[in-house]
Amino acid sequence: MPAPLLARFGDRLPVSAATPVVTLGEGSTPLLRAPALSERTGLDVRLKLELANPTGSFKDRGMTVAVSKALEEGAEAVVCASTGNTAASAAAYAARAGIPAAVLQPAGAVAAGKLAQARALGARVLEVRGSFDEALDAARELAARGTHVLVNSLNPYRLEGQKTAAFEIVEELGASPDALALPYGGGGNTRAYALGFRELGVAPRLVAGQAEHRADTLASAIRIAEPAHRDEAEGAVAVSGGTVVSLTDEAIADAWRELARHEGVFCEPASAAGLAALAEAGLPPGSTVVCVITGHGLKDPEAVSRLAPAAVQVEPEPDAIAGALA
Ligand code: F0G
Repeated sequence: MPAPLLARFGDRLPVSAATPVVTLGEGSTPLLRAPALSERTGLDVRLKLELANPTGSFKDRGMTVAVSKALEEGAEAVVCASTGNTAASAAAYAARAGIPAAVLQPAGAVAAGKLAQARALGARVLEVRGSFDEALDAARELAARGTHVLVNSLNPYRLEGQKTAAFEIVEELGASPDALALPYGGGGNTRAYALGFRELGVAPRLVAGQAEHRADTLASAIRIAEPAHRDEAEGAVAVSGGTVVSLTDEAIADAWRELARHEGVFCEPASAAGLAALAEAGLPPGSTVVCVITGHGLKDPEAVSRLAPAAVQVEPEPDAIAGALA
């Protein structure tokens, strides 16, 4: 197993020998060449497979730091609001730390796999009758009472942990990519990459794909009306010479299908937003671009029902099977 994130990057994180290390073996994710996508786009496309983290999303990079620091600082419980992935990650790291996690999720709006994770991992799952944005306000207010530490990306340790993905990319390429493309929900991850690249003294263009209709996109992970980090995230994109691209659900779905069918990478719909945004980014041919694949496809089986062909039932006979395949 590669070293846990806190061991590999501890010298560049706000931790010390006194920090208890709460880890599930996160980080050190693959950076995969994408030949079919490179061929189609004329770019050198690489995929940073953050879906390979222990709970299936990039959130684990931030959560190992946030929960370790919470424990060091004497926390007795953590809380987050979430469209699902933060909740699954908080639930896992809290279980590992031996403290309770309360997760607030917009009722009826979280993908089944993520809800299953949070439940299985022993979190107190509360379905809030309202939007993610309302759940986040409630989580902040609860945290302000002092009973729970907030582990949303407003917790600065989350961004510190997430910046390590930028370190891995530059280390593996041996240089900065020309551009980095990723989904833009609340903007925490965009900020985290900008922070990581800045610490290395490099400045790839940041291409951030957001849902055109933020409040009701099929990409439920980024169904966020008011990004908590808007000013800083969009500021970082602008300074990098990059762009924020607004995407239709159709464009996100097309990119999702292309990743699955031509690269063999099955992610959740939101994770395809970075790739979808490339079409509008105006990058020079031959540019090296890393697309961040933020979350695993198994998290969102309902999306698959909507976006991929149904299975066909057949009798267990060769003729019937050949007929169905014809
Ligand atoms: N991709 C996935 C799979 C996500 O779960 C999220 C955010 C993002 C991209 C966007 O990242 O918010 O830092 O811009 N998920 C949060 C959650 C909101 O609650 O799991 P961002």
